Amino acid sequence: MTAAAGGSAPGQPWWKSAVLYQIYPRSFADSNADGVGDLQGVIDRLDHLEWLGIDGIWLSPITVSPNADWGYDVADYRGVQPDLGTMETFDRLVAGAGQRGIRVLLDIVPNHTSEQHPWFVDSRSSVTAPKRDWYVWSDPKADGSVPNNWVSSFGGPAWTLDGTTGQFYLHNHLSEQPDLNWWNEEVRNEFDAILRFWFDRGVAGFRIDVCNIIVKDARLRDNPPATPDDDFEAQLFGQRPVYNGNRPEVHDVLRRWRLLAESYDTPRALIGETPVKVEELAKYYGDGSDELHLAFNFPFLTAPFDATTMRRVVEDTEAHLPPGAWPAWTGSNHDMSRFSSRWAEGDPAKARAALLMLLCLRGTPVLYQGDEIGLEDFPVSQADLRDPLGVRYWPAYAGRDAMRTPLPWRHGPGGGFTTADTRPWLPLGPTGRCNVETQRSDPWSMLMLARDLIALRRQTPELQTGRYVTVTAPEGAWAWRRGERVLVVLNMSDDESTLTGTTGHIHIATDRERDGESFDGALTLRAWEAAIAEIR
Ligand code: NOJ
Repeated sequence: MTAAAGGSAPGQPWWKSAVLYQIYPRSFADSNADGVGDLQGVIDRLDHLEWLGIDGIWLSPITVSPNADWGYDVADYRGVQPDLGTMETFDRLVAGAGQRGIRVLLDIVPNHTSEQHPWFVDSRSSVTAPKRDWYVWSDPKADGSVPNNWVSSFGGPAWTLDGTTGQFYLHNHLSEQPDLNWWNEEVRNEFDAILRFWFDRGVAGFRIDVCNIIVKDARLRDNPPATPDDDFEAQLFGQRPVYNGNRPEVHDVLRRWRLLAESYDTPRALIGETPVKVEELAKYYGDGSDELHLAFNFPFLTAPFDATTMRRVVEDTEAHLPPGAWPAWTGSNHDMSRFSSRWAEGDPAKARAALLMLLCLRGTPVLYQGDEIGLEDFPVSQADLRDPLGVRYWPAYAGRDAMRTPLPWRHGPGGGFTTADTRPWLPLGPTGRCNVETQRSDPWSMLMLARDLIALRRQTPELQTGRYVTVTAPEGAWAWRRGERVLVVLNMSDDESTLTGTTGHIHIATDRERDGESFDGALTLRAWEAAIAEIR
């Protein structure tokens, strides 16, 4: 079976010209009134996604999971989580999406499994169990303490002592998420087979969970202390994670997966979750054609929304990526605060500018469900928390539930996500103006802006393939050209801003009344206004 085909630019691999859209299935659309979004809910909304112009959907994990970390603790890599649907529903989803030119990408979690996965059940049963070496086990130190100083990225030691055999097992996240041992060839072979299993069902690619940390130091050496130059997380944990992840050998695995992905008629895409600095990020593309197709850019995602910083991250990315490599741009996901809250701080003008930015850079934009309507985080009360991190760290850290609340499809009880009398698994935020139905009938809405920008991208070769060139702009503004004739300008300041020496006409402005407006010698934008223009 081949991956369903969408409309890609001539001569371009599909994943370069695609607009991708992340679906968090539990919060997308609930078809059976149990309060949990499901695969049939996605099928029911495919017409809407086609209308919006989406080329591919990435589904956060749909595989069997006890949900200690909401799907990111997998107990069966080849089965569908029952409250999301069945394999038959999934096959219908791939077929239905394909008929609409939409590809389906899945999330794969290779770093760790659920503690309930039969592999781990076997592994922990004895030191001679067949799957013992599939996980990372180590003796305590002589004084009985943990084997080394590694900390979990969810806080606390990365090791848990297992009473049955008296050894510690490694977990870079929850103790319910034991890390696999990627030095073991059987583990590598098993994941090849899992990838093939889904590719053969028509899956167009994978988002690879924490793909930078799957291989650990074989000698389990202590991490060095953090230095003042290190990022926030290293400072928080007091150590630089050089041995419990980010090992050079991870690239062997990615090269192997790339070959596998390319062995299909329509190449499947590998998108890495790569929370590393830009210089490191570049390495995950290999020579530009032999590792990841796309790598999520966390320095961009976490940058403050000001012209100088954003421009620098983009220029840095452009400078570091090897020839042939293709950037990916995203402003929100199920772990990070939504960009309408974080970058835009609830200001619709800023949110519209951010959306235009995402859709006009050189690279593949990945929208997160709700970005297209300007959905903001909805902080949930302590009693409603579902994220284990929120539960553990409340009130110092409320966790990730605020960015996982259900998508409002229409105004009113249930918000079109579920029925009026059903209590959703996470509370629904306000549905007033920020809902799909209302925005579909409002030509000035964020949703219509998203749709029009996506359509423009499809029609404009420069927006798909044109190179990125920074254009000198006044302080507080950021401007770039795509190819020779397309100009993008963001006024990221509270004052009016004028870009001089430019003549042309606006295709789309965040103030839609200006669409089509001509300018001669200068383009003036009001505070937090953005525009994409054709220049002469
Ligand atoms: C990254 C995922 O996006 C996040 O949701 C999850 O908790 C961790 N990886 C662990 O799998």
